[in-house]
Amino acid sequence: MEPTPWDGVYRDGRDLYTTNHGPPGDRVYGEKLRTVGAVEYRQWDPFRSKLAALVSRGGAPNDLWAGARSLLYLGGAHGTTVSHLADILPDAAIYVIEKSPTSFAPLLALARRRAHLYPILADAQLPERYRADVGLVDLLYQDVAQRNQAAIFVENTRASLAPRGRGIFMLKVRSVTQSRPSAAIVREARTELERGGLEVRAEVGLSPFARDHVALITRAR
Ligand SMILES: C[S@@+](CC[C@H](N)C(=O)[O-])C[C@H]1O[C@@H](n2cnc3c(N)ncnc32)[C@H](O)[C@@H]1O
Repeated sequence: MEPTPWDGVYRDGRDLYTTNHGPPGDRVYGEKLRTVGAVEYRQWDPFRSKLAALVSRGGAPNDLWAGARSLLYLGGAHGTTVSHLADILPDAAIYVIEKSPTSFAPLLALARRRAHLYPILADAQLPERYRADVGLVDLLYQDVAQRNQAAIFVENTRASLAPRGRGIFMLKVRSVTQSRPSAAIVREARTELERGGLEVRAEVGLSPFARDHVALITRAR
């Protein structure tokens, strides 16, 4: 098991791993566990997690979460990616917004097994409902697959991201519209982020792991 340039991420051949900071033997989505010496690792599947896809693809700065003490995650779903971020940042407060009560139940169960996760049942389009609970965070992560994704990212940046805070925006191109070319949709999303005061540091297509998705890496000006 080799460390990678990404804090808290390990590699064995092409496979990525994080160290399990949940209870020993805990599986979140059926992932493979491996023990090396006294350390238990959880395999991180780039076909199941767009953040693992981003790491696998390369091309993004590898300081995205280095030193982050707090994180706001929009669109937690059942907690697949959240669980790996919880492994990677065991000392950070991780606030997770999810609007579907069906997804929220497994997220709550996950948080019972990882004390630094704070799930919030809320709509990411209404950051004023949770900004007081979250405060200012070092890192904003969004994966909500909504038509107005870029606007949601900008609003949450304004509400909750610290000055010079970092952002990871997983843009699902076809959730915006079916009727225009992908390149135009990505360009428009970038422009919306820039108009919202964000610097776009990198753009990484996530194919073949997550087709139709582009990660935009940002920093608040
Ligand atoms: C593609 S899934 C996220 C997968 C997850 N990020 C992962 O990698 O494990 C999108 C999630 O965003 C949630 N979602 C969509 N719109 C939302 C909104 N406006 N506010 C909060 N959650 C939202 C959906 O309910 C769904 O669970």
